[in-house]
Amino acid sequence: MTMSLEYPMPRSCPFGPPPQYAQVRQEAPISRVTLRDGTRAWLITGHALAREFLSSDRISSDRLNPGFPQLVPGVASVPLKGTLVAMDPPEHSRHRRMITNEFTVKKVRRMRPEIQRIADRAIDELLAGPRPADLVEALSLPVPSLVICELLGVPYADRGLFQGRTKVILSRHSTVEQRRDAAIWLRRYVGELVAGKESAPGEDLLSRLIGKYRDIDAYDRETLTGIGLLLLVGGHETTANMISLSVVSLLEDPGLRAGLPERAPQLVEELLRFHSIVDNATSRVVVEDFALGGVTFRAGDGVIVAAAAASHDPEVFARPDRIDVERGGRHHLAFGFGIHQCLGQNLARLELEIVLNTLFARIPDLALAEPVERLPFKTDALVYGMHRLPVTWP
Ligand code: HEM
Repeated sequence: MTMSLEYPMPRSCPFGPPPQYAQVRQEAPISRVTLRDGTRAWLITGHALAREFLSSDRISSDRLNPGFPQLVPGVASVPLKGTLVAMDPPEHSRHRRMITNEFTVKKVRRMRPEIQRIADRAIDELLAGPRPADLVEALSLPVPSLVICELLGVPYADRGLFQGRTKVILSRHSTVEQRRDAAIWLRRYVGELVAGKESAPGEDLLSRLIGKYRDIDAYDRETLTGIGLLLLVGGHETTANMISLSVVSLLEDPGLRAGLPERAPQLVEELLRFHSIVDNATSRVVVEDFALGGVTFRAGDGVIVAAAAASHDPEVFARPDRIDVERGGRHHLAFGFGIHQCLGQNLARLELEIVLNTLFARIPDLALAEPVERLPFKTDALVYGMHRLPVTWP
């Protein structure tokens, strides 16, 4: 008999997923869990089953679909139109197709000089400022925020406004009202930007998308606002947290820096796998009965695919709790899997690579200014990461 476990499960160590995952996976890679609101859901912790499940066409990402796991209270009350991550085919495929070619490896590679400039400028300012400094404020947040602002054509001067609201949306402590108000504010903000670009297009992605949709007579401001909002929110907070955690990993284990800069892509891939900061964005609801791994999923069942657990499955990643640059673990689930797999992954990889290479080349003696046990890790947020990262240098 399967016992019912509570979800989410706490992390006990700032590095790596909740230790309970390994135990649960060993007992049953698909288990029953009870969520904070008392509802029950399935939890998938095995790598192969996670990928198979996320490839199914009998699942939905629509948060309004009854049975969708309510990990964040109040999500149903925020306007979701145009939110790619919450759409199902064929609508999802239609919109995703309009955007994918903006994020190909080739397109993203062209952004390298600009990202390098942004990283260098942030490090210049860090070095010119006082010590110790908070690396989250000085580097981890500004680099991805500036990159996504320039790409979308969002004024960077407004960052305080959207970074603060993003924090509210991603915090587990926010009330339903706070989360809804933040989402409504952000939507209005992006909506006004989009409206401005309709009549005065710029050299940016949102302007290009307006044109593309108009070309096929499918332009709708609300939908483009949702698309833009997800890119803005998804584009800075996730990457910022990965930068901070990666820096701590490299400070704690300087040997990992041995291969930089040549082996940066492999190192980044392994850090993405190891930290798997977005653990349950890959939740779904079943829309048609089907069997998988000895379990029958029924229509209306909520399912949480624990991406961090799948990326630490020892069947696929030997000694998963070790950061091993040589393992070539690109098939991790840090960016999800299937039709919703992260659209910005190439950009995130490049930003991480540039930031880590530049930071450790320019400040090789960078050190933590507080013991690692005292650092404020985001155990209270939907995306794992760091609130602050105090660093110093000689
Ligand atoms: C290290 C950084 C990042 C991580 C760990 C991450 C993680 C993820 C994950 C796990 C998903 C899948 C959600 C699902 O299956 O429902 C996803 C989707 C998505 N991500 Fe990212 N992401 C990162 C960076 C970015 C960046 C930089 C952008 C934008 C430029 C971005 C834009 C998106 C979008 C638009 C989707 C939705 C795709 C769809 O539904 O088709 N992400 N991301």
